[in-house]
Amino acid sequence: MTEAILLVGGQGTRLRPLTISTPKPMLPVAGLPVTVHQILRARDAGVSRVVLGTSYRAEVFADRLGDGRALGVEIAYAVEDEPLGTGGAIRHAAEKLTCGADDPVMVLNGDVLTGVDYRSLVGGHVESGAALTLHLTRVADPTAYGLVPTGGDGRVLAFREKPQTPEEIVTDQINAGCYVFTRSVIDEIPTGRPVSVERETFPDLLERGLLVRGVVDDAYWLDLGTPWDFVRGSADLVRGIAPWDGHEAADALVLEGAQVSDRAVVGEGTTVGPGVQVRGDALVEGSVLLEGCVIEAGARVVDSVIGQRARIGAGATVVGSVVGDDAVIGAGNELRHGARVWPGVELPATAVRFSSDA
Ligand code: GDD
Ligand code: MG
Repeated sequence: MTEAILLVGGQGTRLRPLTISTPKPMLPVAGLPVTVHQILRARDAGVSRVVLGTSYRAEVFADRLGDGRALGVEIAYAVEDEPLGTGGAIRHAAEKLTCGADDPVMVLNGDVLTGVDYRSLVGGHVESGAALTLHLTRVADPTAYGLVPTGGDGRVLAFREKPQTPEEIVTDQINAGCYVFTRSVIDEIPTGRPVSVERETFPDLLERGLLVRGVVDDAYWLDLGTPWDFVRGSADLVRGIAPWDGHEAADALVLEGAQVSDRAVVGEGTTVGPGVQVRGDALVEGSVLLEGCVIEAGARVVDSVIGQRARIGAGATVVGSVVGDDAVIGAGNELRHGARVWPGVELPATAVRFSSDA
């Protein structure tokens, strides 16, 4: 049996306003919270017990996931009164682990979709006797991540979180946010104060000369931390590009109670949430339509997230934008790349519509 810790306590600032009411890991991608996708993949790789390290909006997790039985795992909760940072959260959550000092513990950032083979990551870790194994992936622009150069033997040479200068960009290998710790290494993290695993714990292990391994692979990988990556991750799941066991690749995912007009075009991996209405000849591509929102006839919604019960007026255009819960975008209005509309805000209509069929 392997135990896992999921880090789900961040504020999800870059995904505001979606994360005002819902913590990032509980936002649905392809209809299921990111956390649920992660737990299911971990379970299939032999993880039977998961400790959720929560802080921001902790109650949302327990309300939705309970004791984990419905997902086929046992879930325990470690709630931080004040956010303890990634390292502090791991140490705090470890108090709820049941395994021994020499056992491997999987730790996952709560906002990552990946096809990495967890089982072989854990197996390789145990075989090597390492203190820590890091899953690494390659990205075109590594600056927003933790840089991890390795030697020919896979030994990690350095760990540089979010490099600030061009000289620091020594590799395109980044920390993919999935670790296997030997339990005793977690127990050495200081308690009672915030600790960053990336800025403090990892550099410290390297300094002490402990064996830290990096495993690079080409499996699907995406951090869902920004709105653009969030919609892309959801669409990749729907289209079968991101791993999702038992899911049949499709152009769109229409969830229960949703109504999509015959004349509407809905595709490019769009998820139409429960109770959503897509009316008339609306066009929706590569987007996430959250529960109960309404897209009126003639509207065009592309690469965007539309909040719960929000309304996109007739003929409105929403591209690469985030519309908060209960917001209203008036008929004919246009939102372009990067726009964010706060919950409940009403933007006026800006154009006369000639066809008004619903
Ligand atoms: N419990 C708890 N407490 N969880 C936290 C805290 C905290 O104080 N702070 C952050 N987290 C959780 C977040 O919810 C998220 O799931 C995870 O830790 C990582 O935080 P992010 O805010 O998403 O970090 P990032 O994306 O900027 O960078 C991290 O992930 C990259 C890969 O996606 C780092 O680990 C980078 O090194 C890495 O490359
Ligand atoms: Mg992240």
